[in-house]
Amino acid sequence: MLHTKICDILGVQYPIIQGGLGHMSGGELAAAVSSAGGLGTIALTTRTRDLYAQEKWPISVRNEIKLAKSLTNKPFAVNVPMDNNVHDKFVEAAIEEKVKVVVLAAGNPRLYAKTLKAHGIKVMQLVFAVRHAQVAEAEGVDAVIASGVDAGGFIHLNELPTLALVPQIVDAVKLPVIAAGGICDARGMAAAFALGAEGVQLGTRFIATNEALAHQNLKQYLVNAAETSTIVTGRKSQMAMRVIKNKFTADLMEKEATGFTKEQMGVFIGSGRGLVAIMDGNVEEGSVGCSPSVGMIKEILPAGEVVRRLVADYSKIVSRLDGLAK
Ligand SMILES: Cc1cc2nc3c(=O)[nH]c(=O)nc-3n(C[C@H](O)[C@H](O)[C@H](O)COP(=O)(O)O)c2cc1C
Repeated sequence: MLHTKICDILGVQYPIIQGGLGHMSGGELAAAVSSAGGLGTIALTTRTRDLYAQEKWPISVRNEIKLAKSLTNKPFAVNVPMDNNVHDKFVEAAIEEKVKVVVLAAGNPRLYAKTLKAHGIKVMQLVFAVRHAQVAEAEGVDAVIASGVDAGGFIHLNELPTLALVPQIVDAVKLPVIAAGGICDARGMAAAFALGAEGVQLGTRFIATNEALAHQNLKQYLVNAAETSTIVTGRKSQMAMRVIKNKFTADLMEKEATGFTKEQMGVFIGSGRGLVAIMDGNVEEGSVGCSPSVGMIKEILPAGEVVRRLVADYSKIVSRLDGLAK
């Protein structure tokens, strides 16, 4: 049976987490995943450009939480990226709206772990190295999400692949470890469990779902993409991201090669570059996180169906592995 310790901690049926997807995982997606027995996650999602200003982000987060609560009675998570000026408001909203799980990212868990736990909220921390996981454990979080360089979106400059990162974190901490990065189907999920993970987090796979708040062009682009369709940009300017390889990234790489500073890169990228693809559907000019596992996505599905297929296919993979061991 597909049930691990993390299911009991999070109050979910399956150890399958839909990772936060900035501007794409709103209330509908989170609720659909949670209703199917996984754990959906709300990320910062500005549905309209007039909500894009940072001071308005807390309004969006609260709206999405309310929406998810209206669509499911199952637990879901809220993603709190700590690299902005309003993350305290995200935490405030999660507490006031009685969210069951918070995922902390891009910062030290010390800031919020104790407060959240005092309100009965389970806390998970996104980590990219053994040391990060040890710090999170010392701060009392409930689980860590070990994210390898194979993941779509922001990556850490240590660029550790999921296959190498997860078992080393499993060995270093007593906390349950959730594997993220490059997992797209039940084969990846079984591999993560073989590495010692107690759960999996998928991001890219959930973009190509009916409930993701992304333009149809972007979803279809993922369906047509291959394993070579992503690229890491921003290594030199310390803003490393694994994204869809397109016209925009070709220009960006050219600029980066000429020695653009972080500030110059910021101006070149501009604010809301992701929205060009996500909202407008211009996939060549937008910057969107994407994993090389994208080549495995063959169709746009309801998010609940993604969860159901992971569960159903997992049994087949396990039977195959049993057969190999005989
Ligand atoms: C387009 C995109 C946006 C993302 N946005 C966020 C985010 O806002 N916060 C966060 O903690 N992680 C974010 N992530 C990371 C995912 O939650 C997840 O950990 C990652 O996608 C897992 O790797 P995969 O893409 O190979 O499945 C994002 C990933 C992608 C692809």
